[in-house]
Amino acid sequence: DNVHDKSRGSLIVLEGLDRSGKTSQSNRLVSYLKEKGVLVESWRFPDRTTSTGQMISAYLANESQLDDRAIHLLFSANRWEKRSLMESKIMCGTTLIVDRYSYSGVAFSAAKGLDFQWCKAPEVGLIAPDLVIYFDISPEKAAERGGYGTERYEKLEFQKKVAEHYSTLRDASWKIVDACLPMDIVEEQVREFAMACILTCQKGKPLNKLWS
Ligand code: TMP
Repeated sequence: DNVHDKSRGSLIVLEGLDRSGKTSQSNRLVSYLKEKGVLVESWRFPDRTTSTGQMISAYLANESQLDDRAIHLLFSANRWEKRSLMESKIMCGTTLIVDRYSYSGVAFSAAKGLDFQWCKAPEVGLIAPDLVIYFDISPEKAAERGGYGTERYEKLEFQKKVAEHYSTLRDASWKIVDACLPMDIVEEQVREFAMACILTCQKGKPLNKLWS
């Protein structure tokens, strides 16, 4: 009698520097999973559609100024306001492919000089990803890729600091993909990591909380 134990979806997070290619790979992965019949949704943070998201978006476009800690907490609030929806979707069997999460939150704010532990604190208790895929590229190579855009953080010197903080956050569970390999090879690796994770979660791996 297992009518009630419907298997859950996975929380899969893609992280990396700006211009690492993770947004294109996220789209490719979602299309692939849909073809395979996996219940899947494409998500991203910041979620610019909410009211906190609009404040974040204006800040990133340099249309507004905010204290470093205030914007950090807004990015975090932008995740907290989605937490329960994420949980219910995952528990109902939907896999979420999320472009950036708390790791971006910490790496980008710490790159401004904010205390690393202070940056982590507001993220504690959010849903822990079942898988983090890191798109590894040097800041110089990323900058060469048609150059950065005009958003606030898209500058080489800043991205170098972000890269350092990402390496502090990284743990043995992260899957690292060489983002300089041809797109199709990267895509193949991402698919394999994602499928393995989805199967493990279906088999009953518990959903955890971040950094607690
Ligand atoms: P995006 O280009 O993926 O939409 O992200 C916008 C920028 O915001 C990007 O430079 C990374 C940065 N960021 C943070 O500083 N903190 C966060 O919590 C997130 C999710 C992104």
